[in-house]
Amino acid sequence: MRNELVFRRRSVRKYTGEPVDAATLETITAFCAAARPLYPDIKIHSRIVSKEQVRFYFPWKTPQLIAVFSEDKPGYLENVGFVFQQVDLFLQSIGLGSCWLGLGKLRDVGIQEDGMEFVILIAFGHPEESPLRSDISQFQRKPLAEITDTPDIRLEPARLAPSSTNSQPWYFVHEGDTIHAYRSEAGLLRHKTLGSMNRIDMGIALAHMYVTNPDAFQFFSTEAPELKGYRYTGSVTL
Ligand SMILES: Cc1cc2nc3c(=O)[nH]c(=O)nc-3n(C[C@H](O)[C@H](O)[C@H](O)COP(=O)(O)O)c2cc1C
Repeated sequence: MRNELVFRRRSVRKYTGEPVDAATLETITAFCAAARPLYPDIKIHSRIVSKEQVRFYFPWKTPQLIAVFSEDKPGYLENVGFVFQQVDLFLQSIGLGSCWLGLGKLRDVGIQEDGMEFVILIAFGHPEESPLRSDISQFQRKPLAEITDTPDIRLEPARLAPSSTNSQPWYFVHEGDTIHAYRSEAGLLRHKTLGSMNRIDMGIALAHMYVTNPDAFQFFSTEAPELKGYRYTGSVTL
């Protein structure tokens, strides 16, 4: 079911304001802990916080958010994107809306998790607007030809992935059965916060490749060709 949501989901910014009940919050917390990591050796943690614990300048009526923490190790931002995009899709599968919130901060910087740093927030709650698009034409995304060297329909889930400011920083190069994933160094990367968002975006696109190919998906690092204007993220077989 979750993989179909890749073709329908959208960010929800309008919520009814009704809190999500405790049993559902428990299910969400359990799903966060059980989602597949991209890098299993990186410790990651999430916690549900109330909107009073968050500094954010838009008047969204979401009573609760997910705060994500991680160890700071190579690949940790991609790992956060990978794990919590699975959570994003799960939230939609149970009828809730959600939106990554790169611009939000925890009010109490003292909120910490055992050696991990705060990474990002995800707003979620009962949606006032539909969390699903009626069809693919409603996605505003680059065409496939702009994100890969070989038009490959298997990249459609990555193409439709959400990204910060819809920047879609990904590019995919084929070599035999392997797909090398790269992120654009252009524009936003020069900005520290938004630059780290691009790494989260890459993990999100990889998550869409994983959930649509859960049995075959493999992620690894290899000797990939250099690509001008891009940084290598990792390689995938599907
Ligand atoms: C890492 C990340 C951070 C984001 N931060 C924000 C944010 O701070 N505020 C916001 O309104 N949307 C935010 N978004 C949502 C994007 O703007 C949205 O995913 C993108 O425009 C594509 O639209 P869609 O998710 O509806 O398909 C973020 C998305 C990602 C992936």
